[in-house]
Amino acid sequence: MNEGFEVVSVDGSATMLAKAFENGLEHGGHILRTVLADWRWLNRDVHGEFDAIICLGNSFTHLFSEHDRRKTLAEFYAMLKHDGVLVLDQRNYDAILDGDYESSHTYYYCGKAVDAGPEHVDEGLARFRYGFPDGSVYHLNMFPLRKEYTRRLMQEVGFQRVETYGDFQKSDQEDGPDTPDFFVHVAEKLYVDDEGDGQGER
Ligand SMILES: C[S@@+](CC[C@H](N)C(=O)[O-])C[C@H]1O[C@@H](n2cnc3c(N)ncnc32)[C@H](O)[C@@H]1O
Repeated sequence: MNEGFEVVSVDGSATMLAKAFENGLEHGGHILRTVLADWRWLNRDVHGEFDAIICLGNSFTHLFSEHDRRKTLAEFYAMLKHDGVLVLDQRNYDAILDGDYESSHTYYYCGKAVDAGPEHVDEGLARFRYGFPDGSVYHLNMFPLRKEYTRRLMQEVGFQRVETYGDFQKSDQEDGPDTPDFFVHVAEKLYVDDEGDGQGER
């Protein structure tokens, strides 16, 4: 919003929306438009077309059925303008599933003071333990999305190009991390036909 974008913040949790609203006020005096909605039927509760949908914070991992994942991506696709983009991140579950987990804590989300790590992992469940400096411990169950699987789902719902970054670096970049903590997928809706002309011309 500080950059001049019109923003709508959507979450299924009223507590999270209240926090987002508070952050908007605190950082620039913005009145953030918040909508309590489930992504799986987003178009029912949020109307309009958007240039971008940003789904960060390893949020997509909370959907446990493939049906829900496909429906959510289809809802995101439908809400975008013809040349809109979806930006969606996820933990590097491939590394965790393949026994290669070593969080650098360089990137989001808990800071260095929180000890976060997988307690159990199989192809259907990643259960993380979060230990806080005051001794409190919390657990979170997540679906372990493999990178190629997420990319495939995005393409299957209609996204034309999906670029995936590892900890904000392109995968072919020499100084990119060997085992990133997070992947960020940038999925483009714009259709470019074989001749490079027509509706989808860039
Ligand atoms: C790890 S938090 C990230 C929150 C925020 N995006 C951020 O980056 O700080 C994941 C969020 O996803 C929300 N969420 C999970 N499933 C959802 C669904 N089906 N519809 C809407 N929100 C959902 C949860 O309520 C939670 O606030």
